Amino acid sequence: MALMTLHQYLVREKRENGVPEELAELILSVADACKKIRSKVTEGALAGVLGMAGTENVQGEDQKKLDVISNEIMCGANAPSGTLSGFASEEMTEVMGVLSEYPVGPYLILFDPLDGSSNIDINAPIGTIFSVLPCPGGAKRSVTEKDFLQPGVNQVAAGYAMYSTQTQLVFTLGHGVSAFTFDPAVGEFYLTREHITVSPSTAEFAINCSNMRHWQKPVQQYVKELLAGETGPRGKNYNMRWVAAMIAEAHRILSRGGIFIYPKDDRIPSRPGKLRLMYEANPMSLLMEQAGGRATNGLQRILEIQPEKVHQRVAVFMGSSEEVDYVTGLHRRQD
Ligand code: AHG
Ligand code: MN
Ligand code: MN
Ligand code: MN
Repeated sequence: MALMTLHQYLVREKRENGVPEELAELILSVADACKKIRSKVTEGALAGVLGMAGTENVQGEDQKKLDVISNEIMCGANAPSGTLSGFASEEMTEVMGVLSEYPVGPYLILFDPLDGSSNIDINAPIGTIFSVLPCPGGAKRSVTEKDFLQPGVNQVAAGYAMYSTQTQLVFTLGHGVSAFTFDPAVGEFYLTREHITVSPSTAEFAINCSNMRHWQKPVQQYVKELLAGETGPRGKNYNMRWVAAMIAEAHRILSRGGIFIYPKDDRIPSRPGKLRLMYEANPMSLLMEQAGGRATNGLQRILEIQPEKVHQRVAVFMGSSEEVDYVTGLHRRQD
């Protein structure tokens, strides 16, 4: 049977799940942006896109050339869609409205245009993460940061593109998680998985163990129990993975289960975690929950956090429900 294209899938979602026309249009526009980013990523050195941009972003990170290029593509390719009133990006200090030459629409898009930047120059997996919120009061010409400060439960769509051996687009419109694989020969995304679920149990964890001495007690205890294997309190042997790109960890969890942790650590005591709530943790948390998984900051559901700043950070424990519930329990008992 012929595989369904992204466009045909969205026609079906509009008909069967009442997905609004403009949201379907926005997803197609995001997919086009990801195709453009993919072609830059795939050419690498041949397109002169590797290495540093020589600038710093609001996060205090040295930007890679592809961080900046991907951000420009995400803004440039989505602005004309007529579905947006504003943009927020890891790579832009301020939120942005839509230029007057384009019509405005009812959504706000927030994105991490290039996730896993430290993987760019070593040809390891990288991706693009996006989150879609309704614009308060509907389509408007001028937006403020306040319009974006909505809890993750308000998201109407969220997903990521993963640029790896295959390029895949994985997203949810609130009716389950679907995955599309890109065919470069025809330039199309084809539906290759739908109703994706995260197995409740797992024997695979992802955390950057080099930070162990900086973690809080519940995380140190939890990882120690995992490392104790079948003779320890968890009673089984665990495997570890760390790809240094959140999209790759999320994709592995959506493919075969697992728990991903980026906890608060005392390298920067005032920082609740490294990952950004609005355009990394929230979209990934919606995907995990839509697939039957969990996502907390150690104490509460990430999707219920009321943001105060568009670039605020958060601790992330996400994936298989049994593990996320267990480590969240350890935090709550300590709290
Ligand atoms: P980004 O490249 O968008 O700044 O995000 C990188 C994040 C996330 O993708 C990944 O899981 C994590 O940073 C890796 O952190 P370490 O390099 O500290 O392991
Ligand atoms: Mn970054
Ligand atoms: Mn990122
Ligand atoms: Mn990034």
